[in-house]
Amino acid sequence: MKPHTIAALDIGTHSIKMMVAKVLEDSGDVEVLGLAEQRSAGVRKGAVVNPEETTKQILFVKQKIEQMSGSRVKEVSVTLGGSHLFVASSHGIVAVSRADGNISQEDVDRVLSAAQAFSLRSNTEILDIFPQQFIVDGVAGIKEPIGMRGIRLEADVLAICCFTPYLKNLTQAVLAADLEIIDTVPSPLAAAATVLTLQDRELGVALVDIGAGTCGLAVYSEGDLIHTAVFPIGSDNITNDIAIGVRCDHDVAELIKTEFGSCMGSRGKKTEKVQRPDGETVSFSMSFVTHIIEARVKEILQLVSKELKKIGKQGLLPAGLVFVGGGAKLPRLVDFAKKELKLPSRMGVPHGVLVSEAKPELLSVMGLIVSSADSGGGAPSGIFASGFWNKVRRVFKTFIP
Ligand SMILES: Nc1ncnc2c1ncn2[C@@H]1O[C@H](COP(=O)(O)OP(=O)(O)OP(=O)(O)O)[C@@H](O)[C@H]1O
Ligand SMILES: [Mg+2]
Repeated sequence: MKPHTIAALDIGTHSIKMMVAKVLEDSGDVEVLGLAEQRSAGVRKGAVVNPEETTKQILFVKQKIEQMSGSRVKEVSVTLGGSHLFVASSHGIVAVSRADGNISQEDVDRVLSAAQAFSLRSNTEILDIFPQQFIVDGVAGIKEPIGMRGIRLEADVLAICCFTPYLKNLTQAVLAADLEIIDTVPSPLAAAATVLTLQDRELGVALVDIGAGTCGLAVYSEGDLIHTAVFPIGSDNITNDIAIGVRCDHDVAELIKTEFGSCMGSRGKKTEKVQRPDGETVSFSMSFVTHIIEARVKEILQLVSKELKKIGKQGLLPAGLVFVGGGAKLPRLVDFAKKELKLPSRMGVPHGVLVSEAKPELLSVMGLIVSSADSGGGAPSGIFASGFWNKVRRVFKTFIP
């Protein structure tokens, strides 16, 4: 692969998406060279449970992408999904090392390391840390301490942690597809780099990724990530509910959801019909289907609301909710969310990527691409420059053995 091309891999419960893009030198935007999507395998509720099966699907998308872009893909940024992801808040304290009291990068590194020295339950580890604030000689709220003078430096950090065996499974699946991992990004954060503006993050915003097996939440305020969570409920639960309610096959239920589903009010006729693969017709009541969908979406939104309440942000995010993920394609989701959570709501749209059309389920892989482009090209500058500028990268380049 040429040095200015980047690749990303989003491993989801429903599908695996891979994108290869080129960074445009003048604008810093990225131009998509190839995109491939393949039905997932070996993934349950966002976590890789059978790496061998997942590798086969990764190899398939990799091959497709290489044909499209005409270049070999050697390294990727990848998402780590699943409700095993959790956050922990921590605090570190160090003495400023220089005699003149000037705080250096080395002091910042030391205080961030000190903040990571907390006990975790067995089989879990820190995936990423996000500084919330620095405290210099008791003065809190400092974002950039380097160059300030002081004796004591403290840091509050938010650590995103994961269940180690699932991280290992993911790594194993990707490496076996002959790919190096340049970054592992918690799945709920992946789309942020392309759909959230710096203003959204400053004002306060919640990114809600409704996937097939999970729903991811990432909350930002005053420019920083302040919380993230993954719930083990997604759009597949809606399909299952329809299959049970309408008493039809899973595939028929999926068709009913995607063709006729809506979050509010029934659309069109009172009774609709779909054809089963064997030619038989299945009739169903539109208001019944809408009722089923409404109940599940309400449950998902209530989980979001509960999480916002936990961090004292319920009803307090001026930039509101931003939806991504295939499950967010349900008509009237935004209206429903506004009504239920009493917050501004919108569908996520990509920034910084030159694409004609961006389906909600592709925004995570696009976000990975944008953050890779940002981190490769120095500090972001524009309004949409996002990347993970406030994330302390635990850059672990994982090589093929
Ligand atoms: N029009 C639609 N209305 C509602 N749901 C839809 C629609 N189109 C696709 N979906 C659902 O979107 C889901 C796939 O979305 P996505 O690709 O974001 O999930 P994923 O990333 O594979 O899963 P996860 O993030 O949970 O691991 C499927 O459950 C699919 O049924
Ligand atoms: Mg997903």
